[in-house]
Amino acid sequence: MEQKAAEQKIIDLTQKLNHYNLMYYQKHTSLVSDFEFDKMLEELQNLENQFPPFKQPDSPTQRVGGTISKDFLTVKHKYQMLSLGNTYSEEDLIDFDKRVKKGLIEADFSFADIEYVCELKFDGVSISLIYENGLLVRGVTRGDGVQGDEVTNNVKTIKKIPMRVNVDKLGNEFEVRGEIFMPKKVFEEINQEREEMGIEKYANPRNTASGTMKLQESSEVAKRKLDAFIYFYYADKIPFKMHSEAVETLENVGFPVSNTYKKCKNVEEVLAFIQYWDKERENLPVETDGVVIKVNRYDYQNALGFTSKSPRWAIAYKYKAESVSTQLKSVSYQVGRTGAITPVAELTPIFLAGTTVKRASLHNANEIERLGLCENDFVFVEKGGEIIPKVTSVDADKRKPNATPIQYITHCPECNTELVRNEKEANHFCPNSKGCPPQIKGKLEHFIHRKAMNMDSLGEGKIELLFEKGLLKNIDDFYTLTYKKLFGLEKVILDADTGKTKKIGFKEKTVENILAALEKSKEIPFEKVLFGLGIRFVGETGAKKLVEHFENIDNLANATLEKLAEVRDVGERTAQSVVDFFQVKENLALIENLKNYGLQFSQTNANKIIVSDDKLAGKTFLFSGTFSQSREDLQNKVLEFGGKLGNGVAKTLDFLVAGENMGPSKLEKAQKLKITMITEKDFLEMIGENKTSNKSANISTNNTNNISQKGLF
Ligand code: IVH
Repeated sequence: MEQKAAEQKIIDLTQKLNHYNLMYYQKHTSLVSDFEFDKMLEELQNLENQFPPFKQPDSPTQRVGGTISKDFLTVKHKYQMLSLGNTYSEEDLIDFDKRVKKGLIEADFSFADIEYVCELKFDGVSISLIYENGLLVRGVTRGDGVQGDEVTNNVKTIKKIPMRVNVDKLGNEFEVRGEIFMPKKVFEEINQEREEMGIEKYANPRNTASGTMKLQESSEVAKRKLDAFIYFYYADKIPFKMHSEAVETLENVGFPVSNTYKKCKNVEEVLAFIQYWDKERENLPVETDGVVIKVNRYDYQNALGFTSKSPRWAIAYKYKAESVSTQLKSVSYQVGRTGAITPVAELTPIFLAGTTVKRASLHNANEIERLGLCENDFVFVEKGGEIIPKVTSVDADKRKPNATPIQYITHCPECNTELVRNEKEANHFCPNSKGCPPQIKGKLEHFIHRKAMNMDSLGEGKIELLFEKGLLKNIDDFYTLTYKKLFGLEKVILDADTGKTKKIGFKEKTVENILAALEKSKEIPFEKVLFGLGIRFVGETGAKKLVEHFENIDNLANATLEKLAEVRDVGERTAQSVVDFFQVKENLALIENLKNYGLQFSQTNANKIIVSDDKLAGKTFLFSGTFSQSREDLQNKVLEFGGKLGNGVAKTLDFLVAGENMGPSKLEKAQKLKITMITEKDFLEMIGENKTSNKSANISTNNTNNISQKGLF
């Protein structure tokens, strides 16, 4: 493309995409489909790469990140970022109101029209955003209030923060302040993923948002889906009479302003606002810890001025986290799927913020030490923003003299193996991954998870029963389950939450569903199978990235630490964990077994298969049951020889290749439709490979994508 045309195209695309973004994020209106948007964004990115000088300062390509900051630049704030005075009581607020009025009288202002603006106090990271001629030029963290870190590239990944705004009402040079936060839902999703990966969960959305803003790779920040609310406007010459006018204007030009703010005519209205939001704030997408009360008129604000630390015209009312004192009965220790030990405080039941609390997590040994917890201590329990209660401190007044400090366990409470604690890790671990019951059950449960093999017909206590009966010891045992083994098993269990008993049973329909789910799981893509293997630190996204990069299990198993760490989103810790996993002989044998049962161990991508011969052209095949080599290898052979794969037993099918333990319903249907049934041996003869493959524990010899093997056919 010619230079001039490229420049114009870049400008057009930038404008269009920014408009779509604004409409989507501020007005909740989609003007184009996601697909069209992504295509346009890709086109813009390509043009920017080709013609870098034409890249616009408000280019939407910055939203996805891509920059890496080694160290953040320290920037001095033009207007100091002060904090607010805190109060926890209504009396303090009434005093504040009196102080404001007194101050105004002393400054010769009448206070007849005093008005406050009440806003929620968002619990995130405060940010200062500087705009010049309508363009976002800098984003700076609070730091110590005088100077902070320049995090502009990270700020630009937050889609609701406009990169260009209309300056008519705001002036050419201004600054806005607000709070960057992680929505509660995003936080929960991230923590769920971390739990599934067997790594320590983040403590709360605020710390996570703060940590995210300090990430050096802005593309990583973009993935964290941060959000923001703006609540403040600064300029040398403020073109408004009131704070509320400024906030309304900010909202109108496209800044994200929370619509929860309210003008209040007197302190009674302020108190009513506080009361209303005490409960209601739970329904907001962001954590809030109080209410900020600001004098609305700027001339009043100026008259009142500042103390050395905070403005006299504003105050923060902080909601008290409800806290109760109760006695510690004991500390129990939970063992997770990965062997991580979590200490739990077993408490004398107590009512707190709507529910009865019986237990609270103590996180790890460091936390017990921080609390200085002793046996039979009375502890304060709080429910913060998080649903799970936490022990905040020990009620020292109630401690018995000579109380015995809690001794952290040295051996696994489930299998008595000596615990280990790795350097840099807060949790203790039970290393007995193969013999420790909760670890085994945890791995089995992880394997059937919706995001892995998706076999929920095996959920709800069934795994426990099958484990007890000795039918499940490892994940490959799932594929040895038969109707005969399952039918009729039953057990009565006690539901710990409700205290009621429940019967778990394997009736005819349940067994059929389980067997069907097992059969269907053989079609589950490799990335989910890999996630299901439960390799420590390999979460859903990590598994996806590894599969994209290495394509099949053999490449992955043979990858070096360096090669693994090169993969985007795969850190050193994950890379080491993958290497460790494939060094264990039992794991290799497990994979070999799963392969033979027909699970997918390479990226399903028909395009990758090079057709070497057209012996099978026009013919459709379906494989059912187990074979001497992996089902996936056999399927790839069909494609290599120009054939097609069928989706199920249907008229369009030419051959049903029947393996061992083929499902009876498939057999019946195939007979009805008069579909030709052949054995694995027949199939191999068809393609001129009449020997069955050599089963070997060395999985690397079984590389399905190894094109050089074609010479054999
Ligand atoms: S106004 C000069 N409004 O609370 C005062 N602050 O302790 C400017 N915050 O550092 C702050 N929500 O990070 C203001 N609606 C709100 C707020 C808010 C949260 C944070 C902010 C500030 C701290 C004050």
